[in-house]
Amino acid sequence: MNLRIRLRRFWKGNFNYMANEKQYNVAVVGATGAVGQKIVHYLSENLFPINELKLLSSKRSAGTKVNFQDREITVEEATVDSFKNIDIAFFSAGGSISEKLAPEAVKHGAVVVDNTSHFRMDENVPLVVPEVNPEHLENHQGIIANPNCSTIQMVAALKPIQDKFGLKRIIVSTYQAVSGAGLAAEQELTKQTEQRLAGEEMEANVLPAGSDKRHFPIAFNALPQIDVFDEDGYTKEEWKMMNETKKIMGDANLQVAATCVRLPVFTSHSESVYIETDYEVSVDEIKEAIKQGEGLMLEDDPATQTYPTPLSATDKKEVFVGRIRKDVDHKNGFHMWIVSDNLVKGAAWNTVQIAETLVKNKIV
Ligand SMILES: NC(=O)c1ccc[n+]([C@@H]2O[C@H](COP(=O)([O-])OP(=O)(O)OC[C@H]3O[C@@H](n4cnc5c(N)ncnc54)[C@H](OP(=O)(O)O)[C@@H]3O)[C@@H](O)[C@H]2O)c1
Repeated sequence: MNLRIRLRRFWKGNFNYMANEKQYNVAVVGATGAVGQKIVHYLSENLFPINELKLLSSKRSAGTKVNFQDREITVEEATVDSFKNIDIAFFSAGGSISEKLAPEAVKHGAVVVDNTSHFRMDENVPLVVPEVNPEHLENHQGIIANPNCSTIQMVAALKPIQDKFGLKRIIVSTYQAVSGAGLAAEQELTKQTEQRLAGEEMEANVLPAGSDKRHFPIAFNALPQIDVFDEDGYTKEEWKMMNETKKIMGDANLQVAATCVRLPVFTSHSESVYIETDYEVSVDEIKEAIKQGEGLMLEDDPATQTYPTPLSATDKKEVFVGRIRKDVDHKNGFHMWIVSDNLVKGAAWNTVQIAETLVKNKIV
């Protein structure tokens, strides 16, 4: 490692890594995508202890040059042979790629941190938000799953409430950004906005779900469908939120219902969340629990119109909480507004935090 990076690491006070001498060979699959680019950014910014970094994509982007700290890395096509000598492999190239290549990476001795939904509900795969259930990492068998972006920010905010006051029920409505559906959806929102402002017809090819039969414009619109429809009239995104929340929070009896909506917002998901606690508590006690929660920021003052918004949360690592109110009918009921950057805490940052926790606890 060169002197400049050693000095940066020293001045940043990154003593966790310095205490652990080992340097890791790291691969990022999907490195050219919306999430993959951010993973590479946080690996660099947080000075993750990297010996060799391999950036992988499909054939389309193979050959692209990416600057990483003081090196230039050429993106390679991901194949079954890409993982020789890799210690940690980050996957964010879609479920089918993880299904095919993550077991290959594990066979070669790598620990996989997977951003797709493919392994999330597998009982042998820990599903982890480091502020909520880091202990689940101890039992990993090679693959660790990063939860759905909307789930991560909600469980992070509700964990201190569950710990202090118990949690019986969650009803959530989401207001999700287009970047949650990848770069193609971001480009579609830009193009449709330009088309509409030029008085042209808006073309829709990506949303609400690339693989579904019909597509609708997202610009100047709201789509009450994220991913395809599944059982009982819920979408797959809604089932992900309901099932993943129970698994991460370790309570199969927790009542969770979700309605997921896409909005013409580029980045950061917002959520209107209703909860019922086990015990009767005050709004101030809920606010205090949020204030003390790891990775949380309370932004809640109606007198000064202080509350989080997608624009104010973008590019930040924290989960922001505001608009906390007691329900007018249910003595244990509360409403709140939870906002976080879906590409940061909802994906790349949580993934890098998982890897940092593995390194810190020497379980990689
Ligand atoms: N966006 C979010 O908020 C978010 C949050 C959590 C999880 N996720 C999940 O993370 C995954 C990636 O999402 P994204 O938003 O980053 O998508 P994206 O912007 O569309 O990027 C997809 C990436 O996968 C690569 N890829 C595609 N086909 C491949 C193949 N056959 N072999 C190897 N690499 C291939 C692409 O490479 P090319 O450049 O060569 O096309 C690109 O690097 C998805 O499973 C998504 O559900 C996304």
